[in-house]
Amino acid sequence: MSDTVIRVENLSKKYIIGHQQQEKHSTLRDALVYGAKSLGDKLLNFSTYKHISPTSEDFWALKDISFEIKQGDRVGIIGRNGAGKSTLLKILSRITEPTTGRISIFGRVASLLEVGTGFHGELTGRENIYLNGAILGMSKAEIVKKFDEIVAFAEVEKFLDTPVKRYSSGMYVRLAFAVAAHLEPEILIVDEVLAVGDIRFQQKCLGKMEEVGREGRTVLFVSHNMSTVSYLCSRGILLESGTLYVDSDAEEAIRIYLDKSYNVAQLPLIERKDRSGSGKVKSASFRVLNQEGTEENTLQSGKNYYLEIGYLNYTKERINNVVVSLDFFDDKGIRVLLLRTNFTNSNLTIDAEKGYIICGINNLPLVNSLYRVSIYLSHADQELLDWIEDAASVTVEGGDFFGTGNPGLPNHCKILTKAQWSTEISFFSS
Ligand SMILES: Nc1ncnc2c1ncn2[C@@H]1O[C@H](COP(=O)(O)OP(=O)(O)OP(=O)(O)O)[C@@H](O)[C@H]1O
Ligand SMILES: [Mg+2]
Repeated sequence: MSDTVIRVENLSKKYIIGHQQQEKHSTLRDALVYGAKSLGDKLLNFSTYKHISPTSEDFWALKDISFEIKQGDRVGIIGRNGAGKSTLLKILSRITEPTTGRISIFGRVASLLEVGTGFHGELTGRENIYLNGAILGMSKAEIVKKFDEIVAFAEVEKFLDTPVKRYSSGMYVRLAFAVAAHLEPEILIVDEVLAVGDIRFQQKCLGKMEEVGREGRTVLFVSHNMSTVSYLCSRGILLESGTLYVDSDAEEAIRIYLDKSYNVAQLPLIERKDRSGSGKVKSASFRVLNQEGTEENTLQSGKNYYLEIGYLNYTKERINNVVVSLDFFDDKGIRVLLLRTNFTNSNLTIDAEKGYIICGINNLPLVNSLYRVSIYLSHADQELLDWIEDAASVTVEGGDFFGTGNPGLPNHCKILTKAQWSTEISFFSS
């Protein structure tokens, strides 16, 4: 007997984009999610695809993809923004239909995709658990058996009888993950929604996914976090602009992905297509300036810099509460520094058309290395405006962080801090 649980043959997915969303929605869920989105766009009199001809245009999000997944494979699906990862998972979860090609799935699938799919907003947490169980083909008795475990895992006891549309995004994801992971699917499909929860919950989810994998069930996991993929996955599928670029073991796929990331075509940020978000505001440029305001390409540890993001705001209105995040990743894909406006309660209001967002950083604490920087813009942490991975690369070389001329051991650590040494505790008393 074959142990293939998923077979994907020559799968392609076409979207029709243009002035008006013309795709026929293949499922009710699709219609709800994208219907609401295009209504929102209309209300704001805004078209995400403004630069494209006013009629319509075909866009192939997946192109002729074929692969097989065996029982018990733990597959990391990786690739840059817009590569087609979520589209693939949505097709495998039967939330949307392929345009050509076919998929065969042998086993019960539970999936956790972007927030907004999977649950019904008007129904309570309790009702959604039962509904999802029923969709998975479980009997009422089986669901009852799992119910308490799900509620305990999600930590939503108090809100069980509240419609999930009133849940915070964190609560929503906790419940959605708990349902998907506990209803004993044979195949568990998870699309990076874990990023929404707090660190403690993320760890808990990873633990649970590991457990599901250990039980011999199949796991498909999309993530931008290479250390998580490497920890959790045995196999890696790298998508590149809708095509299958690598299908091998996880470490190999990660290595190729990271290698490729360094060769980002030096397109101006505004022309990059590998971005996600509504596009109402886009980052258009990124520069590092020194204290005197001159652009620097090679930075030194311990110096002060301004990181400057140029933006274009297509809404023609000022927007307040813009949350900005600059993430620095090292050559292993590990995030070593995360600068984010809401950590410091910095509330930014951006201008109606264009302008700059400046982040001042004292005493750069990074060691010598090449870093890739991702730029993320959201409105109030609710609506993703623009997110570009590998928006820029930054080299740190040299510097006198400690002010002593001693360079430290930059190959042995990732961050620098000045410590005080003594044989008595005295530093922190006023
Ligand atoms: N309903 C849709 N209508 C039109 N285009 C779409 C639709 N859904 C996705 N796309 C486009 O298809 C491409 C692939 O999108 P997808 O969401 O699968 O990428 P992804 O790899 O998940 O990216 P990310 O890392 O940003 O989540 C993107 O260019 C996206 O804009
Ligand atoms: Mg995605």
